[in-house]
Parts: sequence; structure tokens; C-alpha cells
Amino acid sequence: MTIEQDDLSHAEMAALAKRVDRPIALIGMMGVGKSTVGRKLAALLQLPFADADDEIEEAAQLSIGEIFERFGEEYFRDGERRVIERLVEGGPGVIATGGGAFCQEETRQLLLEKAIPVWLDADLDVLVERVGRKDTRPLLKDRDSREVLSQLREARMPFYRQAPIHITSAGGPHQATAMRILKELDSWL
Ligand code: S3P
Repeated sequence: MTIEQDDLSHAEMAALAKRVDRPIALIGMMGVGKSTVGRKLAALLQLPFADADDEIEEAAQLSIGEIFERFGEEYFRDGERRVIERLVEGGPGVIATGGGAFCQEETRQLLLEKAIPVWLDADLDVLVERVGRKDTRPLLKDRDSREVLSQLREARMPFYRQAPIHITSAGGPHQATAMRILKELDSWL
């Protein structure tokens, strides 16, 4: 890892971690890098990490694709809310949420009240390039990903904007994005 001049030192990160009194919830579009950035952020803060989608799959013993296919999106959203509720109750840590979670009224209120929502955003080109690496997302299955992502991003923007912290990822290394979140947190907390 390259250490930049203005990066937080280990001591500063440890001091910051002590001030994190709630889970940090990464929100934002599919492909923006919530899981990878979240894992790095948790490692830097030495806090536990959880990926809500993985936890949903674990609880249902089904893949996200299978849940959508067999039971539909509404059922998935209900399970997603319950899983996020449980993760939030776990206290300080980093949670990567699925792209639609923060657009559900109850889940959003829960995250706004009991977590620190951090909106990770990126240009459409970056999102399109990154979702191309994985073909397991039911909302993109057999559809033009640029078109779907563009529409969803537009529709979800008013929700995402409600997050108190906003970071744009320019498509560079995830480590650099994690470091930028730390700096924002440091001044926000
Ligand atoms: C979704 C995003 C996915 C997953 C599900 C629905 C969405 O998570 O929760 O496929 O509605 O945007 P990622 O954002 O981690 O891809």
C-alpha cells in the first residue's frame, strides 16, 4: 500500500476508530465497490466487516438471484431489512449494503438513525465497467446494464443524497477511496 502525505497515521486511525460509536453503512449503486472498499475500511479501523448481501444469502441458504427468482423483489427487500437490522444491532463496524437497501423507507430510517450512512458514488462509466465483472445481479440479468444503471441511479439519487457523508470514487484504487472515507469521517464525527 502506498502511503500518501496526508493519509491518516496508524495512531490517528486508532483514535478515530474509538470515536466510531455506530456502524458505518456503505450505500450506493451496484458496482461502485461498497464491499471491497468496506472490507478495506474495516481493516484500517480494525473493526468487523459484514456484507449484507452475503448475510442474506447465508440466512436464506439461497443466492440473491434465486431469492429474486423464487420469491420476488418484495420478499428480498423484507429479508434485507431484517438482516440489516440485525447487523446494525451488532454495534460499531462496517456494513456494505446492497444498492437498493437505502431506497426502502424502513431500512433507510433505520440506517439514518442507528448507523452512519456513507454514500459511495461513481460515474456511470465506472459503474458499467465494474458490474461487467460479475453476472449474478438479478436486476441486470438479460438487460442492458448501462440503461438499467442509468435509470436506477437517477431514481435513487434523492435517497442516496440523504446520507450525511458523500464520497465519489473516480475508479481508482479502492484503498484510496477507503482512506478518503476515513478523512471525511474524521471531520464529520
Ligand atoms: C441490488 C443490489 C445488489 C443486491 C441485489 C439488488 C439493487 O447489491 O442487493 O441484487 O437493488 O441495487 P450490490 O449493490 O452489492 O450489487
